[in-house]
Amino acid sequence: PLIALRQLLDHAAEHDYGVPAFNVNNMEQIHAILRAAEACDAPVILQASAGARSYAGEPFLRRLVEAAIEQYPQRPICLHQDHGASPAVCQQAIRSGFSSVMMDGSLLADQKTPASYAYNVEVTRRVVEMSHAVGVSVEGELGCLGSLETGTAGEEDGVGAQGVLGHEQLLTDPAQAADFVRQTGVDALAIAIGTSHGAYKFSRQPTGDILAIDRIAAIHAAVPDTHLVMHGSSSVPQEWLAVIREFGGEIRETYGVPVAEIVRGIRSGVRKVNIDTDIRLAMTGAMRRVMVTRPDEFDPRAFLKAATAAAQDICRERFEAFGCAGQG
Ligand code: G3H
Ligand code: 13P
Ligand code: NA
Ligand code: ZN
Repeated sequence: PLIALRQLLDHAAEHDYGVPAFNVNNMEQIHAILRAAEACDAPVILQASAGARSYAGEPFLRRLVEAAIEQYPQRPICLHQDHGASPAVCQQAIRSGFSSVMMDGSLLADQKTPASYAYNVEVTRRVVEMSHAVGVSVEGELGCLGSLETGTAGEEDGVGAQGVLGHEQLLTDPAQAADFVRQTGVDALAIAIGTSHGAYKFSRQPTGDILAIDRIAAIHAAVPDTHLVMHGSSSVPQEWLAVIREFGGEIRETYGVPVAEIVRGIRSGVRKVNIDTDIRLAMTGAMRRVMVTRPDEFDPRAFLKAATAAAQDICRERFEAFGCAGQG
């Protein structure tokens, strides 16, 4: 059944596990996630970005998820809107049947300026009011997703680099998190700890100076009843980078967030872990391999089947590593 993010993450908090939230754009990704979840009995968060809605079209996306709910009637499934840019976008998602929305009011810039913080509080508070009235959960974001290596905002959803920011400007401040939660009433809070979106997160295996997993415990202590969310949580598997390169792709040296670090984050209170890039990399590697090794193949289902299987393996690994298996 379709369930709200709050219920799903309350269970995760009670039983000390984290839930991967996978971005979806098409049928193959939804198949992969649901097959993996079914195989290890895990709860599911499917999330759709504005880019997903413009790719698939809102009616198609909604009906693909309805189909998943119909085909897997026992499975708890949350349909979450990723990075809503305004209350209007959130309202549209609610009307479209989403059980959870993210109001990302952090996109403006450095959250530590009073004006941008006040804006974030105001838009998020409004979205909570309208969502809770109809049983929909809300995720807010506080802090600036971005690289501690370069001090830039990375690919924060199409919004360009916001200039070079220092460590303290990028990371979520626990005291401000407490104030934000008190003023908005969000169910979940995305925090900034040095991760960024996309494949190019770190130029080396991250260590504590560029990936601030150690800060999570203090944020969790400051907002114990709000579920923490880690964005930019792809691990960027070196095996898949190697496959992509072997079969003609060009991806320069890069590192993601190691699964072991995410697991440490979950032990410190993270409950929702956003993953998009890893599925993209696995699907691309798998398709490239089939195209190169079977040059006579022209049925696109052959490429898409390989892509689906690769995505399914990634999902299964994350469900198991995050302690989700058996919790569905
Ligand atoms: O938040 C970023 C997700 O990876 C979604 O990416 O906007 O290209 O769909 P997208
Ligand atoms: P990745 O790019 O690391 O997969 O992050 C996805 C994300 O945070 C979506 O909101
Ligand atoms: Na989100
Ligand atoms: Zn994100």
